[in-house]
Amino acid sequence: MLKEEVLKALNNQINAEMHSAYLYLSMSAYFEDKGLSGFANWMKVQYQEELAHSLKFFDFVNERNGRVILEPIDGVPTDFDGIIDVFEKTLAHEQKVTGMIDQLMDVAVKASDHATQSFLKWFVDEQVEEEATVNELLDNLKLIDGQGNGVFMLNRELQGRKFMDTTQAG
Ligand code: FEO
Repeated sequence: MLKEEVLKALNNQINAEMHSAYLYLSMSAYFEDKGLSGFANWMKVQYQEELAHSLKFFDFVNERNGRVILEPIDGVPTDFDGIIDVFEKTLAHEQKVTGMIDQLMDVAVKASDHATQSFLKWFVDEQVEEEATVNELLDNLKLIDGQGNGVFMLNRELQGRKFMDTTQAG
């Protein structure tokens, strides 16, 4: 049985992951509009990953016999100041999510909820990977100054990203 404060924090994270999905879909739409289909594809896969994260929390709450409550999802920006700006905002967003997962873990630790702590470990590791991936992309974009031939090449490379649901493993 989930303690009330843990349930509240988990429900809040279902919403936060949905919000992340919505943000990345908005970024995908922005890139589509700019004719950058590879970047748009990368963001769409990011959107799918966030939906999967949200569902992982959803399933866990149900498994623990908790009541899932879906709250309204906050709005997201629809316009950006170029490719580098999008990825800077992505990195800042992922850093914020890392902070949220850490806080959630703190709530679970305080409640002596070992099952939730064990469940959250997957997200702690995932956030390290998420931040590293975005950081690398941002470094590459800065190297090419977010323009020219480099963007063309990177756009083509990002076209190849495919969604793989890793939430079911571990
Ligand atoms: Fe669900 Fe990108 O963290």
